[in-house]
Amino acid sequence: MPETVITIDGPSGAGKGTVCQLVADRLGFHLLDSGALYRLTALAAEIQSVSFDDVEALADVAETMSVKFEVTESGVATLLDGKDVSRAIRQEHVGMNASKVAACQPVRDALLQFQRNFVQAPGLVADGRDMGTTVFPGAAVKVFLTASAEERARRRVLQLDQAGNATDYDAILLDINERDRRDMERNSSPLVAAADALQLDSTEMSIDEVLEVILARVEEGS
Ligand code: DC
Repeated sequence: MPETVITIDGPSGAGKGTVCQLVADRLGFHLLDSGALYRLTALAAEIQSVSFDDVEALADVAETMSVKFEVTESGVATLLDGKDVSRAIRQEHVGMNASKVAACQPVRDALLQFQRNFVQAPGLVADGRDMGTTVFPGAAVKVFLTASAEERARRRVLQLDQAGNATDYDAILLDINERDRRDMERNSSPLVAAADALQLDSTEMSIDEVLEVILARVEEGS
């Protein structure tokens, strides 16, 4: 039986990361966090002092960086050229630079096959923006997960509060709207639901409710 691919796309803060992890755990599937690859490219470019306007140099960074995801006791560690950068890639400025890097088609081309190589038996849950449209157009189940920008900002504030960081709701909402605009308006693989994706608005849903809807869809599709 071929490997089953489940794609979960949507804007930042819609809960994709948590939901993908839960779906993968429940099904015993592998997980691809494609956003991490764009964040890694952005971080590697920053370390190498590559300009975010130099598209070809950015593609070169994406092609040559060495990336490893290592399962540890406390979760998955992300290694860039042998160094644990799991926390570094989650910084706000790296996310913002990642959205610039992600708008470059040569970078997307450089990462395409790398992402496809994550498909492994018994299956893969792929988290991103263009998983269902570009990277895995033949996926068995496609989900497009959204939530209102206000709700996503509220969740982000909660997350930062819990981590003991200072928060400013208005600044975070502005940031989310800017990132959405950049992800949706870019020419290369813009953030858009695949025609055959199940569209789920999680604004008023709990994570468990989202999980159950997705698992039911997987059940129907298999
Ligand atoms: O999901 P995230 O916040 O870690 O993603 C970081 C950036 O990468 C974000 O601006 C969207 C972009 N991205 C993308 O263009 N395509 C993907 N498949 C995943 C992320």
